[in-house]
Amino acid sequence: MSASREDILQELGLWPQWRRRDLPAEIENSLEHAASGNAGEAPARSTPVVQKKSGALTSPVLPLDQRVAEIAGMEWPQLKQSVADCTACALHKGRNKTVFGVGDEKAEWLFVGEGPGADEDIKGEPFVGQGGKLLDSMLAAIKLKRGENVYIANVVKCRPPNNRNPEADEVAQCEPYLHRQIEMIRPKLIIALGKVAAVNLLKREASVASMRGKIHDYRGTPMIVTYHPAYLLRSLPEKARAWEDLCFAVETMKGLQSAAAAPT
Ligand code: URA
Repeated sequence: MSASREDILQELGLWPQWRRRDLPAEIENSLEHAASGNAGEAPARSTPVVQKKSGALTSPVLPLDQRVAEIAGMEWPQLKQSVADCTACALHKGRNKTVFGVGDEKAEWLFVGEGPGADEDIKGEPFVGQGGKLLDSMLAAIKLKRGENVYIANVVKCRPPNNRNPEADEVAQCEPYLHRQIEMIRPKLIIALGKVAAVNLLKREASVASMRGKIHDYRGTPMIVTYHPAYLLRSLPEKARAWEDLCFAVETMKGLQSAAAAPT
């Protein structure tokens, strides 16, 4: 009796995590071929790769440790494609567009929000709604501009339904993308926008009020916490505090730039 597809996937350690998507005929055939005992050579990669109809390579959902390792080895084009194709958590089901991040891939400044809202989900770009306009004004106030020495990203790349906070499992699946972005950008300073971003980056529960005004460490990169622009739109008194945070960030950046320029 020939082995079923599930038997083979289980044997390869790919079941039940493996999810079928867009399976083209040639891969379907090779599985049937393997199932009938005529399998050819084992694939060179431990991670199975599926050729999508678009021609892009994408991986099925992997166990988290394998996923982290795979994403950690990606360069920009592969990383962008992987985010665009991602189905690792339930958020993909409700998205229109993934929101990878935008800006200068060699930026000194990295601003991190929590996740796309409705406008971002439609446009595929972070912070393009009302909060985004305020963020652009905040950037302008410290003589920065989206895309010029500035990169903007989010903790999760797909919109959580009704703009709820992302769940822990959604963050766990998505944060390897942000880690890789940060590793490649190598910003001098990260600005966490709001509590959800800060708490998920720092991995400890705290209020924005208690985290502001300090230089935190995010995997070796200095990080400052301020209020989320959407919160500032609703809470005018905090705008003055956000301005203090921006001034603190500018001073911190100057210190980091001069430390980098100082002879060793
Ligand atoms: N809020 C966020 O945290 N990120 C966005 O991209 C938009 C709104």
